[in-house]
Amino acid sequence: MPPLLQIRAVTEADLPELVRLDAEAFPSGPYPYFVLRQFLDAYGDHMLVLDDGASLLGYVLATAPNRDLSWILSLAITPGLQGQGLGRRMMSEILDHLRSEGVKEVWLTVEPGNDTAVLLYRSLGFAPEGTPRKDYFGPHQHRLRMALLL
Ligand SMILES: CC(C)(COP(=O)(O)OP(=O)(O)OC[C@H]1O[C@@H](n2cnc3c(N)ncnc32)[C@H](O)[C@@H]1OP(=O)(O)O)[C@@H](O)C(=O)NCCC(=O)NCCS
Repeated sequence: MPPLLQIRAVTEADLPELVRLDAEAFPSGPYPYFVLRQFLDAYGDHMLVLDDGASLLGYVLATAPNRDLSWILSLAITPGLQGQGLGRRMMSEILDHLRSEGVKEVWLTVEPGNDTAVLLYRSLGFAPEGTPRKDYFGPHQHRLRMALLL
């Protein structure tokens, strides 16, 4: 990892940067401001950010465990830094955190054509649950659900 980059816990002051980064990483469907605000309030203990001292360059968000199960709700690396191992690093850190809390199972959904993300999740041990679910997030928004046993 480049020396100036740091993976750290999110803080409330990160919200504007988080909104900017999310829109940059998901241009066709970013989370609305109010959703990220509520994720920060509800799951701030399970959100890590990648910080270069001036801006946020990545983030990962998991839910607090519910009956030993957590969801990964988002993972993003700024486009200019993708493909350098940072997404894998952030996923590994959040999975270590969940494991240390006693989480036994982690679920996520991914757009079936997002080869980079699907390959990353597979290489971390996530397995697809059946075939993609049609219209999961609304019309033409299919998603593949993947699960990992920790
Ligand atoms: C998906 C994403 C988080 C991955 O992060 P990243 O830092 O780019 O990925 P990494 O460099 O850690 O690579 C991890 C794995 O992804 C795969 N991968 C990375 N770049 C790839 C590419 N250009 N093409 C295909 N696979 C690729 C490889 O399997 C790689 O494994 P390796 O380490 O054995 O080479 C990042 O690309 C991103 O933010 N994309 C936009 C937002 C998004 O789609 N998020 C996922 C939502 S479910």
